[in-house]
Amino acid sequence: MTIPSADEAFSSMSSAAGRAEYEAAVDRLREASRTYYGAGYSLMDDVTYDRLRLAVTAWEEGHPEAVAPGSPTGQVADGAAPEGDVAHTTRLLSLDNVFTPEELAAWGASLGRRLGHEPTGGFTVEPKMDGAAVAARYRDGRLVQIITRGDGARGEDVSHVIGTIEGLPEQLAVPATFEARGEVLFTQAQFESANEVRTAHGGAVFANPRNGAAGTLRAKDRPYRLPMTFWAYGAVDLDGETFLPAGATHAETLAAVARAGVRTTADSPAGLHVVATLDEAREKVDAIAALRAGLPFGIDGVVIKADSAAEQAAAGTGSRFPYWAIAYKLPAVERQTVLQDVIWDVGRTGVLAPTAILAPVELDGSTVTRATLHNPADILRRDLHIGDTVTVHKAGDIIPRVEAAVVELRPQDATPVPLPERCPHCAGDIDKSQERWRCAKGTACALAPLIEYVAGRDILDIDGLGRKYVDALIAAGDVGDVADLFTLTEERLTAASGSAKRGAKLAEQIELAKTRPLSRVFCALGIPGTGRRMSRRIAAHFGTMEAIRTADAAVLQDVEGIGPEKAPVIVEQVAALAPVIDKLIAAGVTMTEPQEQKSEQADEGPLTGKTVVVTGRMTGPLDGWGRSEMGALIEKAGGRVGSGVNSRTTYLVAAPSANGKPSSKAVKAQELGVEVLTPEDFAALTAAYLD
Ligand code: IVH
Repeated sequence: MTIPSADEAFSSMSSAAGRAEYEAAVDRLREASRTYYGAGYSLMDDVTYDRLRLAVTAWEEGHPEAVAPGSPTGQVADGAAPEGDVAHTTRLLSLDNVFTPEELAAWGASLGRRLGHEPTGGFTVEPKMDGAAVAARYRDGRLVQIITRGDGARGEDVSHVIGTIEGLPEQLAVPATFEARGEVLFTQAQFESANEVRTAHGGAVFANPRNGAAGTLRAKDRPYRLPMTFWAYGAVDLDGETFLPAGATHAETLAAVARAGVRTTADSPAGLHVVATLDEAREKVDAIAALRAGLPFGIDGVVIKADSAAEQAAAGTGSRFPYWAIAYKLPAVERQTVLQDVIWDVGRTGVLAPTAILAPVELDGSTVTRATLHNPADILRRDLHIGDTVTVHKAGDIIPRVEAAVVELRPQDATPVPLPERCPHCAGDIDKSQERWRCAKGTACALAPLIEYVAGRDILDIDGLGRKYVDALIAAGDVGDVADLFTLTEERLTAASGSAKRGAKLAEQIELAKTRPLSRVFCALGIPGTGRRMSRRIAAHFGTMEAIRTADAAVLQDVEGIGPEKAPVIVEQVAALAPVIDKLIAAGVTMTEPQEQKSEQADEGPLTGKTVVVTGRMTGPLDGWGRSEMGALIEKAGGRVGSGVNSRTTYLVAAPSANGKPSSKAVKAQELGVEVLTPEDFAALTAAYLD
């Protein structure tokens, strides 16, 4: 029988489907899990797999007599895990899933029925790490063996990864004998460096951290080692030695594992929460879900467990999963879809930016049709083809990005993504000397977006100079670079804006713009990699344009955030922009950074040594302030701007939410004990710096 596509299999799998459709769907499931567990890639994404699996399970419930022998729905790892040769001490089980609060309540009710009473021992709530399950055996404090889950009864010995996994030390401080069970994964940072190492060795990028972890466990002959991370979510005794206190609850079990020196889900930023009721457990599910986008690793759900050992034993265990634990699955942040096209834009700095055009796909609550591709080198490294099925990742407010192609699904007529020969904006030459290609004309190519950007409130602040007048000034030949703005006469501005009154006002605004500090003038040059924040750092460091112009690449690297790659590019750009800078000087534009700003920043501000994260809309005296203006204020007051809430955050500035639902950052701040300031409080704290 030919195996149908996932969509075909799913659309023909209603409860009224015939046996042939059912068997085709079962084959499709088998094939998908065989590649997933065996070959290390996914033929369909989790959402598609889960849907098909649910349809198959529903059909089987309606036709118990016709269930295929060895149907994947009845087996651990859907019966597809590679066969291992090491017997597990006790079976390594999977988890049943729920997707809605109602299904969670139904699970709670069924647990109550099994126990014969409402559970009284409370529940634990912890993240469901999205990696690969392993059992790690410690004998007398030494890590002696790591085994994959396999079919739950037998797993594969993957002890070659001993010594490469954070959280699973080779040697404990205590001579404990036990087996830690948990998930091995790549954190986002580990995943990125793993892909760099792989491509440097001529390998393909991993589609996602989970596939990468599963593949890395299995790969025994790689010439390089890729660090991963472990989180224990359970433990069992080994060799008849007593490690766990008798009758230990789940939380106590993990505490014992942590005391021995092995990392557990309780040590993760999402934590392990002990609650009395299922309603409280649900609140914790929401709290962990809210943290998800900011976690440094992937989670695909939240696991709720009956905490009491006695209630776990009384509830019992099925063939695939325990009845005392349940996974509350979170919306998928990764899907597979087809890469239909790649389009190229030119940004204000002249950099060519590719965007993937995708077949629409539902991702984390929105329909995604476009995703970021970084640069041509990245496209080549990923060997992307038009027509490829690609994995796309999106979480929270993060812009969706294309991760990798599923090479196994590449159609015959797929063609490598064409890279532009000419600038897509002006058809001129492309400068390909850096990873990020750039129009050879630089900022002059996309002049209108650059001028519009620099006229903005937080750069040159030329009130009234919007895109319409910018376009008119460029079309009339009055503006060919940013310096030309400062030589415009009232007459030319009147012609461009169509009104003498507007012309006079614009001339006045431009006069004022000449007094902006160096940091803003430097930013207005449009040098790649020198946005508002970096321009502030450069101006604060050097003090004058003259000093910046004479700095070489080595000196530039004294500025925080400028490394050996960025420094020469900035030096070269500053040199290339000499005529523009000279024109700015001739027009009387400020070329210095106020000194007092430097010293406030260095040592005396109310935020010195503090990291501040800002989220949501500002209110009160800060009403209408955007991210960059808040960033400037924080830095002026001596602080540092943080992007996400973590243990180093001092303050989170956030207005109380209008709908009463705190933002994910506010939830995280609360969890970590980070002080939350209203915009009004923050304005009071930084009052001396609100100019
Ligand atoms: S408990 C006896 N807790 O998810 C209970 N599993 O989809 C066994 N997983 O096979 C599992 N995080 O590999 C548990 N906090 C967590 C988990 C977790 C990730 C994995 C585990 C399991 C799979 C089920």
